[in-house]
Amino acid sequence: MRYTRKVSVWPVGLVQPLSVSTPIVKNSKVVGFHDGRSQAKKFAMRWTGFAVNIEFLLQHSKTVTSMVRNFDEDYFLQTLNIDLDDLEVKANNCTQVLAWNTKTVQRKFPKVEHMYKYHLYHPDLNLRLLYQNTLGINVSDWMPTKTTNITL
Ligand SMILES: *[C@@H]1O[C@H](CO)[C@@H](O)[C@H](O)[C@H]1NC(C)=O
Repeated sequence: MRYTRKVSVWPVGLVQPLSVSTPIVKNSKVVGFHDGRSQAKKFAMRWTGFAVNIEFLLQHSKTVTSMVRNFDEDYFLQTLNIDLDDLEVKANNCTQVLAWNTKTVQRKFPKVEHMYKYHLYHPDLNLRLLYQNTLGINVSDWMPTKTTNITL
């Protein structure tokens, strides 16, 4: 976090409804979000899942002045005029959960939609390692039964 130049990102554990909220990472770049809330968001992240360099933040006075209104993660990050490419990937390419939300109750097994299953199984993405190594969930049973066309 200390070396954040603009915005750095990482997975957060114990976040409903998927048990984890994380950027989807391919070749060290963020290509999407695995969060389970609105897919309409540009940055589907939780407050506990990112850090902003304070000097970079202060260069965006609109962000600071709008913080009292429309105060959600997506809105906040969009005021920084950044793209997915600007996000600095932490926690070993987002394959580890180092931050946990402690006030949510975890389901026994995450409810995962078909599209997410495809992401989880995808060998080029961080999600499989993240679920297997950090959350102890074996995703190999979750291979989607039909091919889904998802471009990342
Ligand atoms: C992240 O992934 C890239 C390749 O996708 C690899 O070169 C790099 O070593 C990885 N970094 C870490 C910290 O695992």
